[in-house]
Amino acid sequence: MTRGKFIKGISKRPSWEIADNEVTPQSVFSSRRKIIKSLGLGSIAASLPGYVQAGIFDLFGGEGQPDFVTSTLQFANNTQFQATDEKTPYSKVIRHNNFYEFGTGKQDPYVNAQGFKVNPWQLNISGLVDKPLQLDYQALFSKLPLEQRTYRFRCVEAWSMVIPWIGFPLASLLKLAGVQPSAKYVAFETLFDPEQMPGQRNRLMGGGIHYPYVEGLRLDEAMNDLAFVAVGLYDQTLTPQSGAPVRIVLPWKYGFKSIKSIVNIRLLDKQPPTSWNQLAPNEYGFFANVNPQVDHPRWSQASERRIGPGGMLAAERIDTQLFNGYAEQVANLYTGMDLRTYF
Ligand code: MTE
Repeated sequence: MTRGKFIKGISKRPSWEIADNEVTPQSVFSSRRKIIKSLGLGSIAASLPGYVQAGIFDLFGGEGQPDFVTSTLQFANNTQFQATDEKTPYSKVIRHNNFYEFGTGKQDPYVNAQGFKVNPWQLNISGLVDKPLQLDYQALFSKLPLEQRTYRFRCVEAWSMVIPWIGFPLASLLKLAGVQPSAKYVAFETLFDPEQMPGQRNRLMGGGIHYPYVEGLRLDEAMNDLAFVAVGLYDQTLTPQSGAPVRIVLPWKYGFKSIKSIVNIRLLDKQPPTSWNQLAPNEYGFFANVNPQVDHPRWSQASERRIGPGGMLAAERIDTQLFNGYAEQVANLYTGMDLRTYF
């Protein structure tokens, strides 16, 4: 991987963005093909779709060098939000992903998102705001001061990680646009680009989701201190599979609320539809707060597998905490609400 190209004063050197994010070295793809060929799988593999070929490679692949390019970011540590749990290594964070636009397998996004173009990009903030905003790629990294926060991240599938994100508070971004008093909800939308996102072209590969992937929050949830807009992880810009160039991170909610590669944020007076809720409303609610006492209809949410240096196979099982351990910051948002009804 071409990590670690150090960029000083990111906002002062606009030239970096082009070089660093539009290059997709092909060396790993070709070495994959060689391995598949040498194992006598060439003709079978060649007839399969790309994401299946990737799966074959992953059976034999290990910790090889990924072939996307990231850039080092400059940021301040936010000492208020530093989970003390052991961090999930970078190599695991970028190899175990859910990003159905690139396939439903955990390693599909790592392989299929590598050529994903994140620059140019435009994030629009619109709807019930005083000043609609458009942030281009460069503005994502320079409009607001970047800070680092280490959050626990709990997927609804009962695995979890601990990830140092870089970005800025969602509230700061919304305040820039000036939220109008009539706004009650915030809707988010991922890029719709079937040419680049194979899961948007192929219903099976995309897990049956009706694209673009959409998510939403109540305005008071979006304004909570914990709600974060991430543009990096560890000390790097986001990799494509992690939701480059910009995603949302909501550590007290199941991971599916943390929508990736967003292009639209709209302030609304009505609750917006959300992708997983539309697909299976009895399994995935609008709120999706982490709650060990409210099981998924098909599995328990009482515990989770924490992905550490040994990956999923060696993951330790730990108890799940209410609001993923962030009750102090967010429990007041749900006072008087039955969390079984509003799951
Ligand atoms: N955003 C989009 N656009 N598409 C997706 O499929 N998957 C969600 C969420 N955001 C998803 C998405 C789910 S189910 C999870 S658990 C997290 O992203 C996974 O984030 P990670 O891959 O960085 O761990």
